[in-house]
Amino acid sequence: MDKIGKYLFPIWAKARKYLVLDKIPLRIMKRILLQLDTDFHPSSFDTIVAYDGGAEVVLNYGQVNTGNVRPLVEGAIFTRPPSRKRLTAIFIGGRDVERGERLFMAVKRIFFGDFQVSVMFDPNGCNTTAAAAVVQILASIPDLRERTVVVLAGTGPVGQRVAALLAKLGARVAITSRFRDKAVRTAVRLRERFGVEVTPIEAKENEARAEAIREAEIVVATGKAGVQLLEERHWRDLPKLKLLLDANATPPYGIEGVEPGDRGGQREGKIVWGALGFGTLKLQIHKRCIAKLFEQNDLLLDLEEIFEVAREIAEGDRPSMRGGA
Ligand SMILES: NC(=O)c1ccc[n+]([C@@H]2O[C@H](COP(=O)([O-])OP(=O)(O)OC[C@H]3O[C@@H](n4cnc5c(N)ncnc54)[C@H](OP(=O)(O)O)[C@@H]3O)[C@@H](O)[C@H]2O)c1
Repeated sequence: MDKIGKYLFPIWAKARKYLVLDKIPLRIMKRILLQLDTDFHPSSFDTIVAYDGGAEVVLNYGQVNTGNVRPLVEGAIFTRPPSRKRLTAIFIGGRDVERGERLFMAVKRIFFGDFQVSVMFDPNGCNTTAAAAVVQILASIPDLRERTVVVLAGTGPVGQRVAALLAKLGARVAITSRFRDKAVRTAVRLRERFGVEVTPIEAKENEARAEAIREAEIVVATGKAGVQLLEERHWRDLPKLKLLLDANATPPYGIEGVEPGDRGGQREGKIVWGALGFGTLKLQIHKRCIAKLFEQNDLLLDLEEIFEVAREIAEGDRPSMRGGA
């Protein structure tokens, strides 16, 4: 080794050591998703979709609440260097959406500076389902401004989010509930959270809901699984009605005459979307969101962001979004 070589070798060896060290974590660091669920058993659906979306390891925890979440989040934010933090992410799920919302807030409060990881918020599939439903409505009716929409049983997690997205797109939205107070409280909540105005309507039974949709151009049913909200005779002859979408996949379905497999085809001269018809897109959205979590360490995927992902998917795949009869 000549004089220059003798001088350069130690520098090169040191640099090589760092390069190699840097490479090892790249190869062995897996994409890890912390699935934080408010239920006793973390949702197996969410675990499977997490793997299908690109997570390599899913650490799932049940009965997570605002009181016990801190160590779980700290484990996620303190373990990896800044350039690799994107390889850890959090998913918040569970059947109780309001508990999930409190958990989401608690998780965000633990983050500081660059000590954060990306988070997806989708308890009970509420955001992905609403985003899929609205994107499919847009596939059939691209301009929703000034359209008259009634969201039947729009007080649940899915209905509220559908109502919020449609109102943000310029539609005139009303929500029904069996209870006047609940409808009003939901409208207030939607104004506070999403800055939208919706009209609350009390409709205790099918006849009252039939009355509520008389002038509607679009009817969306987001009632509890296995509850019928409307009979076919209530909507079949309405001249202004253009589209019906039902989120309920459990018989009896939410709107009699709309089948779960309907994908934007026509029945009785109306465009119809059933729960399974738009459920395929819901799954696609969920998987795409999981993949996105690992692209950066500061992504927060709530309704608005998940809807944007849904629109990206729709833009990239327009023909199959429309579906057939
Ligand atoms: N297709 C998909 O991929 C997908 C994914 C997730 C969920 N879903 C479905 O989407 C729908 C909405 O989900 P969600 O979690 O928001 O529903 P939810 O909270 O279980 O129920 C929504 C609303 O249904 C109303 N309701 C309950 N029992 C009723 C009854 N006996 N008669 C009339 N109305 C009744 C309630 O409104 P009021 O008390 O205000 O009247 C409630 O707020 C469900 O059918 C669910 O299965 C579909």
